Amino acid sequence: MDAIGNTCRSETETNQKKIEISFSLPNKVGQLAKALEIMKSHQVNLYHINSKLNRENSEEFDFFVICDNSGRLKEALGGLKQFSTNFEIISVPWFPKHISDLDKIVPYTFTCEKELEADHPGFTDAEYKKRRKEVAAMSRSYKYGQYIPRVEYTEEEINTWRNVYTGLIDLYPKNACKQFNCNLKLLQKQRCYTADNIPQLEDVSKFLQKRTGFRLRPAPGLISPRDFLAALAFRTSYTTQYIRHRSKPEYTPEPDICHELLGHVPLFADEEFSQFAQDIGLASLGAPSEYIRKLAMCYWFTVEFGLWKEENDELKAYGAGLLSSAQELRHCLTDSAEKKTFDPSEACKEKIEPSKIQPYYFVEDSFDIVKEKMRAYAKTNPRPFDVCYDKSTQSVKVIYQ
Ligand SMILES: [Fe+2]
Repeated sequence: MDAIGNTCRSETETNQKKIEISFSLPNKVGQLAKALEIMKSHQVNLYHINSKLNRENSEEFDFFVICDNSGRLKEALGGLKQFSTNFEIISVPWFPKHISDLDKIVPYTFTCEKELEADHPGFTDAEYKKRRKEVAAMSRSYKYGQYIPRVEYTEEEINTWRNVYTGLIDLYPKNACKQFNCNLKLLQKQRCYTADNIPQLEDVSKFLQKRTGFRLRPAPGLISPRDFLAALAFRTSYTTQYIRHRSKPEYTPEPDICHELLGHVPLFADEEFSQFAQDIGLASLGAPSEYIRKLAMCYWFTVEFGLWKEENDELKAYGAGLLSSAQELRHCLTDSAEKKTFDPSEACKEKIEPSKIQPYYFVEDSFDIVKEKMRAYAKTNPRPFDVCYDKSTQSVKVIYQ
């Protein structure tokens, strides 16, 4: 249900494998074996190692090592740092350091050329498939700082939007969280959202930038979890522009403009929620692939399909997958929908069902608890460094621990 996919591996994903370090050890028999044992005990694989006598101190050897960005790397490097001298992380995997760096990952990322799956309502509609590709192609060449291409939607597409919009709008006051309803009202008041027009991403992105600094970036299709989450680190959400098939306004197996604008945007206009989403993005930068998979699951069960209670103990939807599907928004709050208490270490083990009604939902007593639990989970990040976001320059700094 999101522009986050599991089906493609991007160039940035393949570049996440290696970390280069250097350290020095006393020129004594067995010292290197002990250092290697530290790496082995934390299941960190080594690709390359070389050594040379320290030029200034013949009692020491200097080592240069390329190791795998996997296993319990943070613990391994922590142990090595204590065991050695002159320990230094020389390079970490590439990831965007500035919002404009997102341009560098676009060409490798999208799967817009992929044919629709057989369960897509537009699968046998050649006209729909042609139009979907046409709209997707407009997003493909987008670069940071440009205007987002305006799409001239057809009457038929506007009619689909109208059906989705009117089908959902009456459900929101009772089923959606208050942050969502508050910002939706604002979008309606500013005539950004009406039943009669599909909002343009450029206008909505400007609205968001004024509210929370969040912005939309057009996406022609599914994006790898790593690249999708990396954009969130810069308060940027990849957003599709094409619309679901007219035959099923209550359902789409893939993200479409209804999902993005009705599901995500009102919450990205909330400062606390924006920070929550950005924190997931920041935790993803340079993280090992396995941790990215786990973070994507946490994102799925919160930002996409989460439920929390409000002050009066009433359960409300805050996940965009729920807020953009009338069918699922009705279902998720019923007693027949299975609920589990939110636990990131459990959620990360689950498998996603992108094209079906979710078999269960993770719920929590409040947004504060969801945030707390994700913050604690972020501390289990195995990367051996931290990042710090600078709002004024829209860039991140790497901090070595
Ligand atoms: Fe989504």
